[in-house]
Amino acid sequence: MADQEIAVGVDQLVELIINARRVVVFTGAGVSTESGIPDFRSPGGIWSRFDPDDFTLQKFMSSKESRRKQWRLMREGHVTEAKPNAAHLAVAEMHRLGKLDCVITQNIDGLHQKAGVPDDNVFELHGSNKWIKCMACGERYPYAQVKARLLEGEEIPECKACGGILKPEVVFFGESLPEDALEQASRHARHCDLFIVIGSSLVVYPAAQMPVYAVASGARLAIINLTPTLMDGQAEVVINGKAGEVMAEVITKLKAKLGG
Ligand code: APR
Repeated sequence: MADQEIAVGVDQLVELIINARRVVVFTGAGVSTESGIPDFRSPGGIWSRFDPDDFTLQKFMSSKESRRKQWRLMREGHVTEAKPNAAHLAVAEMHRLGKLDCVITQNIDGLHQKAGVPDDNVFELHGSNKWIKCMACGERYPYAQVKARLLEGEEIPECKACGGILKPEVVFFGESLPEDALEQASRHARHCDLFIVIGSSLVVYPAAQMPVYAVASGARLAIINLTPTLMDGQAEVVINGKAGEVMAEVITKLKAKLGG
């Protein structure tokens, strides 16, 4: 998309935010790629290097080999040193300006919270990489602790308390989403008047149902994504640009208009 088109889209989105009462931001892996965390479906993304069929709960629980692969992916995917980028910081600024109802995210990296959006305003539909849980005794370990074991060469960490299988508290394929997060996210999606998608291919359900709920409830839809999505036809504004750059522009113009 040409710079001029992006600039027009930014101005249109700023107007929508100013006139909105309840703004929900919905993010996918594309909001974190500028923080150094690979997304899944872009060229070179995680699913071009790992087979998603290997990453089901059933396989993880049934085979050591699958757990070895998963832990290798998680070592690569969980860039715990990652820092919020301009897009995360702009969304946090929207919160400070009183222009953010909540963030619904598919990401497990915790970068929206690190950028300053309060925990209560972030619904993590696919869980978070913060905690690792023993599937046998329920003991929980901070991810950093288990990551240190991985970096020391442990390939398939097991529970120190009972020797059980350790699993990150993220949603694997075939696993149900955290009920409370899903219920609250659906409610916020249905009660907003502006729903902004940032960095998602919108192909994984039930997360991708959120913009559908919003539009069905009469909300306006805006999409910021490098590539087209299946929801573009229902969006008032589509900006095919980099999340960090676009959102930095949006927040600069929003603050100028709000006198913030
Ligand atoms: N700026 C804007 N858009 C970007 C950027 C960027 N810097 N980088 C990537 N994108 C876009 C890509 O073009 C792509 O359409 O972000 C989108 C990311 O899509 P996916 O990789 O499919 O990630 P996501 O939509 O979050 O996937 C949903 O799938 O595998 C599961 O559980 C996993 O939560 C994930 C879910």
